Parts: sequence; C-alpha cells; structure tokens
Amino acid sequence: MERTSRTGERGKLWVPDEPTWWQRGIVYQIYPRSFRDASGDGVGDLAGIREKADYLAWLGIDAVWLSPIYPSPDVDLGYDISDYRDIHPAFGTLEDFDALVAALHERGIKLILDLVPNHTSDQHPWFFESRDPESARHDWYVWREGRPDGSRPNNWVSYFGEPAWRYLDPPGKWYLHSFDPGQPDLNWDNPQVQEAIHDAMRFWLDRGVDGFRVDVLWLLGKDPELRDNPPNPDWHDALPSRLMLNRVHSEDGPDAHDRARSLRAVIDEYPDRVMIAEMVLPPARAVTYHGADLDEAHMPHNFALAELPEWTADAVRAEVEAYEAVLPEGAWPNWLLGDHDFPRIASRVGPERVRLLHMLLLTLRGTPTWYYGDELGLPNAVVPPSKVGFPDPQAALGTELDRLPVRSPMQWSRGPNAGFSEAEPWLPLASDNPAMTVEGQRQDSDSVLNLFRSLVRLRKETPALAVGAYRTVPAPDGVFSFERYHPDGRVQVHLNFGEGPREVEIPEDQEVVLSTAGKAAPPRAERLELRGHEGAIIGRPEQRGGKVKGSRPTGPLPSTVPPSG
Ligand code: NOJ
Repeated sequence: MERTSRTGERGKLWVPDEPTWWQRGIVYQIYPRSFRDASGDGVGDLAGIREKADYLAWLGIDAVWLSPIYPSPDVDLGYDISDYRDIHPAFGTLEDFDALVAALHERGIKLILDLVPNHTSDQHPWFFESRDPESARHDWYVWREGRPDGSRPNNWVSYFGEPAWRYLDPPGKWYLHSFDPGQPDLNWDNPQVQEAIHDAMRFWLDRGVDGFRVDVLWLLGKDPELRDNPPNPDWHDALPSRLMLNRVHSEDGPDAHDRARSLRAVIDEYPDRVMIAEMVLPPARAVTYHGADLDEAHMPHNFALAELPEWTADAVRAEVEAYEAVLPEGAWPNWLLGDHDFPRIASRVGPERVRLLHMLLLTLRGTPTWYYGDELGLPNAVVPPSKVGFPDPQAALGTELDRLPVRSPMQWSRGPNAGFSEAEPWLPLASDNPAMTVEGQRQDSDSVLNLFRSLVRLRKETPALAVGAYRTVPAPDGVFSFERYHPDGRVQVHLNFGEGPREVEIPEDQEVVLSTAGKAAPPRAERLELRGHEGAIIGRPEQRGGKVKGSRPTGPLPSTVPPSG
C-alpha cells in the first residue's frame, strides 16, 4: 500500500495513490436466510441472491459479505458451523455457490465470506471425536477438570449470559463455550486447530472468494492459564449479566494478534484479497488489530457508530475524531451503522433522520459497510413468539437484545410476501407498507433508495469522497461539518442533526452537489439553509463527472429501474 500525497497535518492523513477495491469500495452485508428465496420454502438461499445480482450491480456496491452459509444446526443461526467446507442444505449446494461467485464476478462485485474460527457447532465431527480423551482431537477444544470442590474451572460468563462452561461425560470434564453451549470454543493453542482453519480458508479462497469477515477475532487470544475474570466495578443490574465481569482474561490477549497474523498470512497467499474482522471493542483497542506492522486485519470493524447512544452532532463528531486520532499511520478506516447483531438504524434514529445517516456513512473517510434493507429504511420487524422457529440465544438476556427483528426478509415488490418468497417467510416482514419495497422506491426519485444510489455514485465519481483525507471544519450549533480533500479536489459535508434550520456557507465557485432533501441551492448562492435533519455535500460542479481510479462503472442517474428486482 503506497503512501503518497501527505495532505494533512499528520503523516497518517495520506491518500492512497492506487486504492485497492476494498479501500474505494462499499461492502454490502447479506443475511442469506433473508435476501431472496428462490426455492420457495420461505428461507432465503444462494440461488435467490444470484437472482438479485443485477440489483446489487444497480445499487453500485462493490462487495457482498455473506453471513455464514455453511451446514449448521442453527442454534445461533449459522454461527455454529458443523462443516467448514460445504453449504447449508437450506441455502443450496457448492454448485449454487460457484454460480453465485461467477454471477457476482461477472458484474465486478467481490464476495466476502464469514469465517467463524473461535468455535464450531457441538454437532461438528471434530467435537464428537474430541469427547474421547484418547482421541487425537481431544485437545482441539478447551476441556478442563472442575475445581477441587467440583465447580466450574473458572468464573467466565458466556456472551449469552450463562456460565461459559458445560460438563460432559465422557470425557468427565468441562468444555468452554464463549457463546451458546452448542458452540464449543476451539483450542487455538493447538497448532493443528490453526492449520485446520487455515485449510478451510484455502478451500474457499481456491473457489474464488475475495476475502473473509472474521467472527470475534479478538476472542482467539485467551489467558493460557484461564484465570478468573475480575468483577466489573461499573456493572449495575440494568446492564446484561455478560458485563458483570471485566473480560480481561477471556479475550483480547496477546495471542489474538499472533493468530490474526496467521490468518492474514493465509489471505496474503492469494492476490488482492481482504481480511475484515469483527471487533466489538472500543476503537482504541479495535485498531490494534490492524497489527503493529499492518499485518493483521486490513479492516478491524469499527463499531463506534453502531454503539452510539445519542445522535447529536457533538456525539458523532467526537466519535469520528476519536477514531481518526487512534487509527495507526497507514491503516485504512472503516465505518458501519450496524449489522445483523444491532437494531436496524431506522428504528434507532427514526425515519426522519435515516437520510442523514445515509449521507454520514457514505461520506466519512473509510470503507462503509451497509446492511441489506437499510437502503430502504427498513425498521426492525415485530416477531411474535409463534413465528420464532429459531430463537436467538441472546434473547435470554432480555427481549430488547433479541436479534431476530433485524434479520427479517428483504422487501422487493408489492406482491405477496414482498416478493421475498412464494411461501410464508421464515420471519415476518418488517413493514407491510408497499413503499417499503424496492419496487415502491425505485420509481420515486426522492426515495431513500435513490438517495442511497446517488450517494454511492457521487462517492465513486469524487476521489475526495471515496479515498480523500478527513478534516473537521467549524460548524453552526447542532451541525457536524467536515471536509474531505484529495489532490483532485475537495468537498465539504454538512450534517444538521438538530430539528431547526441552520445556515452554512457555500464557498465561491462551489455549489450544493447533493442534499438529503433533494433540493439544490440557487446557482452562485453564498449560503445554504439546511432544514432540520438535512445533510448537504458542497463542492465544485465539475467534480460530479470524475471517477475514482479503478472503481467500476455505475449506471447513469437518474436511472430508477434496476434490471431485475
Ligand atoms: C458474532 C456474530 O456476529 C454473532 O451473530 C454471533 O452470535 C457471535 N459472533 C458468535 O459467533
């Protein structure tokens, strides 16, 4: 990765000269059960995603990240894998997978798979074998004797709130599970385990996948002595039980970095691939997973916005500046508003601010990751108990932590089941409003969907937005304003998080390039009045026609009809 054009005050504010696809691109996360059901059984599948490849191209995204597609008993909806080298029968076959890779690649779209290296399913053959203390695979999982009084080996608590150990006989020992008991932790201290996961990665890389999103990477480094975690002095009973202890010994230890480097080394055996990592840690910790020599994850996910409790200009600015301040020199930033584990953004901020957050995510410095359906402004679904076929183990911590409402079917058309399936969907739709569908929004030039497309297109055409450096600029009260700059031009972004109107200046020779309110300021205006919750991008008019080096072409705008969908 070359560092050129040191345009900022600090050396790290560089602009990549030859940005890679994952630096200039937009990643779109698909929850496979919920995107499109081609087989007609109410569950999304790979053939369904392939059917929608033209929609993905029309949207203008650059890479698809698929949540797990492997065989699984679905205790944690796919994050409990029983075979790392096959496809879940509900989703199709390896042939369907190859056809999907081909369909995406034909359209210039990359494919990123979820890799779950910390744990398997308790139905994985490795786990059955490991229950025999004489077996060569016994040490593939974390088995321990109880304490002398017969109690669990230590006080660790799983992420789903219960003690992190379960007793099994045979072998007459406890095994560690950082999540559900159906998800035993692999023993990453065992080199054979590391090799097995590396080989599973190669299996998919050889089939043409363009990278991985590594699940809970920071959990791969546990205290070798498995010491008790100390109590969390800040815990109170309004917080989930999983936060009662400070997880200093159960995760984020130095070994996690060695293991991250080993995964990255496998990625680097193949040209032009990416390693993304889930990293639900404060940004200052998360960025250490870029690696001291930038040899760990290319992009440890940055959850600062996904966890933001209040959406004010000051709060957002503070998060952005804090992240920029801790990012190591030469490391590439990334942003997301949420994923399959967080409430939908429209439900967190309300429909009136959704457009503003589209503009925020698609104008910040760093690769944006987008969650399917957020481009329509889909809210959380209401899932009645009778519709819960696969309960979320996290819901045991409280109904507000149930993640099923964020995983509801994509809404395509005004037809039955919103065009997701001919059968009753596995989860209810989030909305029965016909306007909350691709069909309902694609013809409406003011829709959230078309705002998303306009932002994507502008980002691709404007090097400052795609890969430029970042600088906060002064703003009126309640407004978050920043500049993105690049040797090929600059733009300013003004985001009014308040209810009331605010005025911002339009520098000479510049104009409103895009507003969330769909309006333009009159030519040669000196000021722009932003309405409440309005955002605007201001730049030179000629920047509209540019193109970021290497970015794939987008269709012309306004083109409101995707070829299919
Ligand atoms: C993180 C995943 O995003 C989440 O959905 C899952 O429950 C846990 N890891 C366990 O794999």
